[in-house]
Amino acid sequence: MYFHFLKSSLMEVTLMKKMILLLSLLALLALPVAASGPATDADQLWEYITKVDPYNKWENWPDHKGMQEGVAPHGPLHEVFVNTAGLKKAGWPKTDGTIVVKENFSPDKKLAAITVMYKRKGYNPEAGDWYWVKYSPDGKAAKAGKPAGCIGCHSARAEMDYIMVSDH
Ligand code: HEC
Repeated sequence: MYFHFLKSSLMEVTLMKKMILLLSLLALLALPVAASGPATDADQLWEYITKVDPYNKWENWPDHKGMQEGVAPHGPLHEVFVNTAGLKKAGWPKTDGTIVVKENFSPDKKLAAITVMYKRKGYNPEAGDWYWVKYSPDGKAAKAGKPAGCIGCHSARAEMDYIMVSDH
């Protein structure tokens, strides 16, 4: 009787162990999805940077605080924000999952456009794996993906991971 009890509780323990193993396996499988951020899709990325992890709560680019003067084609004034993944390490290339959001203003400081670079491993290995979007202030994508214009100009800084604003 005692042995029978022992045996069945041992079996229960084994079953529990199996279940725990299975659950941790499932958790591991789910992890990459959670960690990899939004898809390379303009609407999903907009949802992400405005609701899931709002960019206006991020840090500015480290040596580029607040509103700064810029050059064409982005307009005379801008502010650059970078997410936690992007701040993880200084230098190049930036970490997978880095998102850089640049608010572009007109001379009278009205928000004119929002340009975004989102680094997603495997998306475009020939050009730093960046996904590019230009949004209107209300989140409509005017350009998205691998626009030749964005990549062509930013390629001048290919050795700095296509980042123009900073040497850091
Ligand atoms: C003719 C050159 C040129 C083109 C075309 C261009 N950019 Fe830029 N971009 C710049 C410069 C220069 C900066 C540095 C900030 C400034 O002066 O405005 C910059 C900065 C940025 C930044 C801030 C991070 C960084 O690289 O410094 C983002 C994000 C960005 N651009 C996105 C885009 C997107 C998206 C497009 C295409 C829709 C685009 N850019 C097209 C020249 C260009």
